[in-house]
Amino acid sequence: MPILGFGVFQVPEELTEQVVSDALAAGYRSVDTAASYGNEAAVGRAIAESGIPRGELFVTTKMWIQHTGEVTARREFDKSLERLGLDYVDLYLIHQPLGDYYSSWHAMEKLHGEGLARAIGVSNFHSDRLVDLITHNEIVPAVNQIETHPFFQRRADQDVMREHGVQIESWGPFAEGKNDLFDNPTLAAIADAHGSSVAQVVLRWLIQRGVVVIPKSVRRDRMAENLDVFGFTLTDDEMTRIAALDTGRTAFFDHRDPAMVTWLGGRRVD
Ligand SMILES: NC(=O)c1ccc[n+]([C@@H]2O[C@H](COP(=O)([O-])OP(=O)(O)OC[C@H]3O[C@@H](n4cnc5c(N)ncnc54)[C@H](OP(=O)(O)O)[C@@H]3O)[C@@H](O)[C@H]2O)c1
Repeated sequence: MPILGFGVFQVPEELTEQVVSDALAAGYRSVDTAASYGNEAAVGRAIAESGIPRGELFVTTKMWIQHTGEVTARREFDKSLERLGLDYVDLYLIHQPLGDYYSSWHAMEKLHGEGLARAIGVSNFHSDRLVDLITHNEIVPAVNQIETHPFFQRRADQDVMREHGVQIESWGPFAEGKNDLFDNPTLAAIADAHGSSVAQVVLRWLIQRGVVVIPKSVRRDRMAENLDVFGFTLTDDEMTRIAALDTGRTAFFDHRDPAMVTWLGGRRVD
């Protein structure tokens, strides 16, 4: 999969077609959406209008908790595919380690066997859940998409994934700007040294760690900026200084928090 793609979480449905068209025009070839984002159809329209050959694109979508279970997962996958207007997706993810996701995984193994999901994976799985899923099933998830940014770096989780052949993918590479990320003095000093922006330093740092990134922006200038991260290299010292920013804690919420498990489990997306 491309090491750098484009995310569309929190892009309103009515803006998504234009935003994804802009992203494709800027050069993005990987797009990350989800059934729960409510914008798969708009992503699909932008892809269709782009005229870019399907084989050059990498499209990811995700199954929501409400739709776990073997029969339901299959039905909801078909709906996602129809909304996207595609014959297959490149990557299909279990959005959260909640609900009857073992049954979903069995359905997804079949989808993979039929070529409808070229790769299957998971999201928001802490290492214990990931290893348990691997231990009790045939197909190892290709990807685990988890919150990963300078304030929550996930090195131990990445080690577990590496051991099992699972690709780590970052969501929220900028922590959605939390903790004043874009004004962080360490990141700003490193950006100055390279004549780059904080956003570029963060993406470059993740890429040098082998982490797939899918930054989101509705602005064309930022789309271009976030793609332009292959012309410089962070030194070992800079990587070490960024490593020191890790708090070891989520900047959002923990998927093991009972209140959050209840809230997420009750969220309906249609
Ligand atoms: N699996 C999951 O549970 C999960 C959860 C969250 C996200 N995701 C995926 O990961 C993707 C990325 O995460 P995210 O959207 O939550 O957050 P993010 O990419 O960390 O941050 C997006 C925010 O940063 C701003 N931004 C983007 N580029 C910038 C730049 N160069 N300079 C300054 N500000 C910039 C954006 O503003 P503007 O748009 O105004 O430019 C937006 O407010 C999502 O879109 C989604 O595909 C998955």
